[in-house]
Amino acid sequence: MSEQVVIVTGALTGIGRATSEAFARKGARLIISGRDEVKGKAFEKELQTNGGEAVFIRADVRNDDDVKNLIDQAVAKYGRVDIAVNNVGTEGKPGPLTDQTAETYAATFDTNVLGTVLSLKHELRIMTAQKSGSIINISSTYGRQGAPGASLYVASKHAVEGLTKAAALEGAAANVRVNVVAPGATDTGMLDRFTGTDEVKQWLTSQVPAKRLATTQEIANAVVFLASDEASFITGASLAVDGGKLAQ
Ligand SMILES: NC(=O)c1ccc[n+]([C@@H]2O[C@H](COP(=O)([O-])OP(=O)(O)OC[C@H]3O[C@@H](n4cnc5c(N)ncnc54)[C@H](OP(=O)(O)O)[C@@H]3O)[C@@H](O)[C@H]2O)c1
Repeated sequence: MSEQVVIVTGALTGIGRATSEAFARKGARLIISGRDEVKGKAFEKELQTNGGEAVFIRADVRNDDDVKNLIDQAVAKYGRVDIAVNNVGTEGKPGPLTDQTAETYAATFDTNVLGTVLSLKHELRIMTAQKSGSIINISSTYGRQGAPGASLYVASKHAVEGLTKAAALEGAAANVRVNVVAPGATDTGMLDRFTGTDEVKQWLTSQVPAKRLATTQEIANAVVFLASDEASFITGASLAVDGGKLAQ
């Protein structure tokens, strides 16, 4: 993994942050992306202080020009992109399906689905031309099962699972692998926003066969493995990291 060029979107918090730190420990040249310039520059500095090579590039993944600029700047700086982790996601506005609107649909799908489409589009453009690359999307166990009160999130993450398979088939002959990690409940800001109260969070945790939440490090470990040459013949796969949830 040493000196591989790695892009992580949504890198400033939660799973994206832990994934960026894991790649930094492996000696990667990191491009960390997010929407907050101040937080982005602070994380860039923190990684550099710990001996990593990192640069922050601002991008809103709903914006085609932002994503094009992110990938093109990485290529301008390093000449290639080896690994891309499309981690950005939003819980949207959870609630019953009968309360959903065109606006709540867009608030979820523009980030989770359009954002993944635009990221894949620009990453595949570079990786198929260089004839190598590994892309990891982040879906959810909710991308492989239903959940009441989370219909749009569930549907958007099913779309990420489907996009992964289609993109894997488009990239395979050019030696570009595309896989997806499906985290179960993971202790991040998103889970706190999604559950809302400690009681709901505890109930959700009790539903996990392992009786605990995943750590962001556990999700990052799976991403690093799937991205690595140790997974060289794995493409189009979905790896659940969920303490047994999908085995139920
Ligand atoms: N936590 C869980 O239990 C869980 C379970 C399954 C899957 N996941 C998935 O894991 C991924 C990471 O989530 P997380 O749990 O680590 O939560 P998180 O800390 O909220 O991370 C989401 C990140 O995405 C960024 N983001 C949102 N919209 C964006 C946009 N339009 N453009 C660029 N960046 C944007 C956020 O930045 P801002 O601060 O700018 O909004 C934030 O840094 C998501 O895809 C999520 O769906 C999480």
